[in-house]
Amino acid sequence: MPKGTLAAYLDFAPREESFRDVALAGLMRHRKSVPCRFLYDARGSELFERICELPEYYVTRAETALLAERAGEIAARIGPRARLIEFGSGASTKVRLLLDALDRPSSYVPIDISGNMLHSAASAIAADFPALEVIAVCADYMDPLRLPTLVRSTRDRRVGFFPGSTIGNLMPEEAVRFLRGCRELIGPGGAMIVGADLKKDPAALHAAYNDAAGVTAQFTLNILARMNRELGADFNLKRFAHEAFYNEEAGRIEIYVESLMDQLVTISGECIAFTAGERVHVEYSYKFTVDEFRRLAARAGFKPLDCWTDAENRFSVHYLVA
Ligand code: AVI
Repeated sequence: MPKGTLAAYLDFAPREESFRDVALAGLMRHRKSVPCRFLYDARGSELFERICELPEYYVTRAETALLAERAGEIAARIGPRARLIEFGSGASTKVRLLLDALDRPSSYVPIDISGNMLHSAASAIAADFPALEVIAVCADYMDPLRLPTLVRSTRDRRVGFFPGSTIGNLMPEEAVRFLRGCRELIGPGGAMIVGADLKKDPAALHAAYNDAAGVTAQFTLNILARMNRELGADFNLKRFAHEAFYNEEAGRIEIYVESLMDQLVTISGECIAFTAGERVHVEYSYKFTVDEFRRLAARAGFKPLDCWTDAENRFSVHYLVA
């Protein structure tokens, strides 16, 4: 195998879920909803990248700064010759901070559902870290136990990486189930590094999901635009609004598309009625205290060891051992 190229690209061709079936089923419910994973088509992913650069959206900046600052300590915890497995690796940006700091990591296994992005990001890592074995896995990382045995097949210590507070977009039960799957995948002696957004002043949280430039609103409404593009729907985007607020009791940001009037919309030949003020749920983003997150990890069978937070207490990175 020439150095600087991918050691393997495993295509677990994740079953293409039918956007039509899932969206229609969600919109026909009494409480309408469309799962947040459908926010990320090409346009949605582009908008999300712009969100990460907004002055109000501190999440990405805070986590990147924290990882940069603590990479040495995290790497010392992980130890030499580890296999780093990233769940939902996207552009594989933050992992570079760890790879730079780690002591001779043996391999990097990025897992992502989007094949094109995975292939180019993993190839770039292989080129920049020629001593590293890079095994790219195109699969749905939400189901860690169905991943190929090759992910497990090493004597090196397996360490999972799940940054971005994506864990906060799962319902707590789903998050526990996902972490349990990760624990089984990495096996005894393995570890997980997970980024989790912290609870903070509700006004700061509100601003992060209601930016002045309206990019988050475009991101939310893109789910309707996507139905227009892909399902021949006739949503008039001016008749809907982005609605995001912090539900303090539940400890989460709730994001909806709100209908501004009574109206009928046709989606893939089906007519759906919306009443004025009716909401379609699209996303939750849970926020945690350090202890809440540790308890969640413990429910999944992890022993929470370290937690690093930034000076402003905005974001946390947890080191959990299996
Ligand atoms: C991807 N995820 C962690 C983002 C969040 O903050 O929950 C998604 C997002 N939705 C609106 N803004 C950002």
